[in-house]
Amino acid sequence: MQYMTTAEIREKYLSFFEEKGCKRMPSSSLIPDDPSLLLTSAGMVQFKPYFLQQKHLEAPYIGTTTVQKCVRTNDIDIIGTTGRHLSFFEMLGNFSFGEYFKEEMCAWAYEFSTEVLGLPAERLYFTVFEDDDETIEIWKALGVPENHISKLGEDDNFWRAGPTGPCGPCSEIYFDQGEEFGCGSPDCAPGCDCDRFLEYWNCVFTQYDGQEDGTLAPLPKKNIDTGMGLERIAAIMQGVQSNYETDVLRSLVSVGERLTGTVYGDDGATDLSLRIMADHSRAVTFMIADGILPSNEGRGYVLRRLLRRAVMKGHLLGLDKPFLNEYVDEIVRLMGHVYPEIVENRELARRVILSEEERFGANLRQGRAFLDEALAQLEGTVLPGEQAFILHDTYGFPVEITSELADERGIQVDLDGFEVCMNEQRERARAANTKDAEAAWSTYGGVMSDVLDATGPTEFLGYENVEADARIVALVRDGELVDALEAGDEGRIVLTRTPFYAEKGGQVGDIGCLETPDAAARVTDTQEPEKGLIAHTVVVENGRFVTGQDVHATIDAARRARICRNHTATHILHWALRKVLGDHVKQAGSLVAPNRLRFDFTHYEAVAPEQIREVECLANEKIMENHLVTYYETSLDEARKKGVMALFGEKYGEIVRVLDIEGFSTELCGGTHVGATSEIGFVKITTETSVGANLRRIEAVTSFDALAYANSIEAELKETASSLGVPMFDVSERAAANVRQLKDLNAKMKFNRETMAANDLAKLFDYVAESKQGYRVLIAEVDGFDAGQLRNGWDLARARVEHLGAVVFASVKDDRPILLAAGTPEAVEAGFDAGSVIKAIAPAVKGGGGGKPTMAQAGGKDASGVKAALQTARDMLL
Ligand code: SER
Repeated sequence: MQYMTTAEIREKYLSFFEEKGCKRMPSSSLIPDDPSLLLTSAGMVQFKPYFLQQKHLEAPYIGTTTVQKCVRTNDIDIIGTTGRHLSFFEMLGNFSFGEYFKEEMCAWAYEFSTEVLGLPAERLYFTVFEDDDETIEIWKALGVPENHISKLGEDDNFWRAGPTGPCGPCSEIYFDQGEEFGCGSPDCAPGCDCDRFLEYWNCVFTQYDGQEDGTLAPLPKKNIDTGMGLERIAAIMQGVQSNYETDVLRSLVSVGERLTGTVYGDDGATDLSLRIMADHSRAVTFMIADGILPSNEGRGYVLRRLLRRAVMKGHLLGLDKPFLNEYVDEIVRLMGHVYPEIVENRELARRVILSEEERFGANLRQGRAFLDEALAQLEGTVLPGEQAFILHDTYGFPVEITSELADERGIQVDLDGFEVCMNEQRERARAANTKDAEAAWSTYGGVMSDVLDATGPTEFLGYENVEADARIVALVRDGELVDALEAGDEGRIVLTRTPFYAEKGGQVGDIGCLETPDAAARVTDTQEPEKGLIAHTVVVENGRFVTGQDVHATIDAARRARICRNHTATHILHWALRKVLGDHVKQAGSLVAPNRLRFDFTHYEAVAPEQIREVECLANEKIMENHLVTYYETSLDEARKKGVMALFGEKYGEIVRVLDIEGFSTELCGGTHVGATSEIGFVKITTETSVGANLRRIEAVTSFDALAYANSIEAELKETASSLGVPMFDVSERAAANVRQLKDLNAKMKFNRETMAANDLAKLFDYVAESKQGYRVLIAEVDGFDAGQLRNGWDLARARVEHLGAVVFASVKDDRPILLAAGTPEAVEAGFDAGSVIKAIAPAVKGGGGGKPTMAQAGGKDASGVKAALQTARDMLL
């Protein structure tokens, strides 16, 4: 067998299948276009629609071939402990969608293995699904001896990507590493857990579509899906025992060696950490390059967990500064030629990792101390869920990391208890977020769904019209259907059609009026209590509305115009933010109101003021260029293909509305917009804040509200200028000068106060007396001193009064008595004990305290006892 680099194997595989007629296609993103999966975990994921015959490959191709970046996270805590498991890996694959099948596939797999890779035939073993005799015959016909073929059951040889979707029986190819790697058991064979037989190629005969109910529906055609773990085959071709010793990963292990000054192979625990850092740094770099940012849920949480686990391992090796970001350059050097996205996003990856390292690093030491303490105090072997929750909530320890650290000491974490705490926290957050509107509408849920069933959805006319004639289909008051709404009633009215936009997608609902010749109602809000059903919240001003009546509906068009300006401005700002900050910026929420807009987006650090200025500048440029704003309807699929921006996790119908701002922005959006960008006039960002980890918020105003904002700033500035008595643009200089002056004055006043206090105190020095025990002592009341001043008083007295041995001071500050006793070491030697003095005299002021023999103090509740306290001191000492 000839040594091959990872890059050579990758290229040989892809060109082999290209020659057979497969189309070479790029790896798809780690974010799958498939709601049933969190992350792309196999090469077949991007081809699911082809297996289902929803998409077709153009002629003359007979299939596809790819190298797919994959992340698998079902066993993160095992990663590093073996040489085989990786969180991120590359999968070589070839696929057929009804063209070639088993015969061709087995022949090519055999040819590639023995001729291209040059693996000795006698070291290859094959497994097939238990009822698949056909494949056994195919392998035999290729020359594989019968004793190299075995059958395995569903667990090993039936492959599924998830609970549902394309799946099928498979045949796996194993490489025999030699008896010395085996467990020695007479039953040792392919499928055994030991290291002798290494599975490197899985050929799936994708014939079924797994249904929700667990049954298997046959697919229209018979397909092929194969996957070969690139790191595993590289280990075989490079004659090494573990993935981490192959060329690419070994280079990453070296980064860790360099950073920590350790040597791989010297020590088991160190090796484990080096492996984890190498593997996880690669996973997080690729995840970030595909637009994932650390967060507390979904794939963002997977990223955070991997990142923090690697940081923790580095920390255990003595790295107490951010280090993981330093792997990025090496990863780009090793893999950038295959995956251009990591080259493009190198800086982003470095900064996201660094910022997460800093965030976590700040808490790491304290969190570890907390955990060590909790484990030391623990009785039994289960760490309570509340403590894991504190570690999560206060110190940012993913619970899996806490479990892993606890596990090292044989302690389990009460995961159920942890979940309870998490749920309570979610509940608190949810309760805090529940909008009044939601609460108000919930009582209408049942009624509105009946209305929808009876009347069907409301026709929405508001994209073109601000008024319309319509008929009343339902009236609701206090959660009940009613026949009529009378003057003074508040309720909801549903019409056959309406120009009123119901609140959704961040855009607030319209207001306006409904009228008949004899009645009028004010519409104070519009909502969509059921999908497609628009309900107007009304107050009837006069007359009577009855079901079946015709009404004229008119929205507040001026308000709507302001909303439209803000909505289009939101899209422009989204575009400009991506332009300035990068493509990882994604909308996470928005509010489009008449007088302002709010836009939440993913980004890993505060947006610098210069960047905000740049965003504003770009956005206003687009406004002034006066681009046309149009919309069209299309299928979700078409829109995706064209790269229209969509919100992840949002549910869209099959037919979607695309908002197109000529030349630069297309987004899925059901809202209302201006006809051309110059109608917005001007956009001004007013604030930029954080609303969570990796979530930023900007607020902005447009047109007349932007003018009003500028005017209010100007008015404020003018007023300040006039109080300062300077021209408007000298305000900041003058204010800074004033603040400086104020600080100087304060410092002077403090000095004066202290001098005065010292003088007051000095007046008492004449009262120094001789104690019973022979040292000189001053017992005195000094009014208005706080505890610090009393201590300074002791220093002052000592400095100024010759041979002073001790003092006992009492003071009343803000109606609170304070007592201080202090003595020199010589006085203490002679018998003075500040602690006992304070203990003896504090009860007189209803207080308590203590300290050392040389210094003790007490506070109390009863200022009237100060004199008695000092008398006690005199009785005691003089
Ligand atoms: N989908 C199969 C696997 O991931 C073969 O590609 O193993």
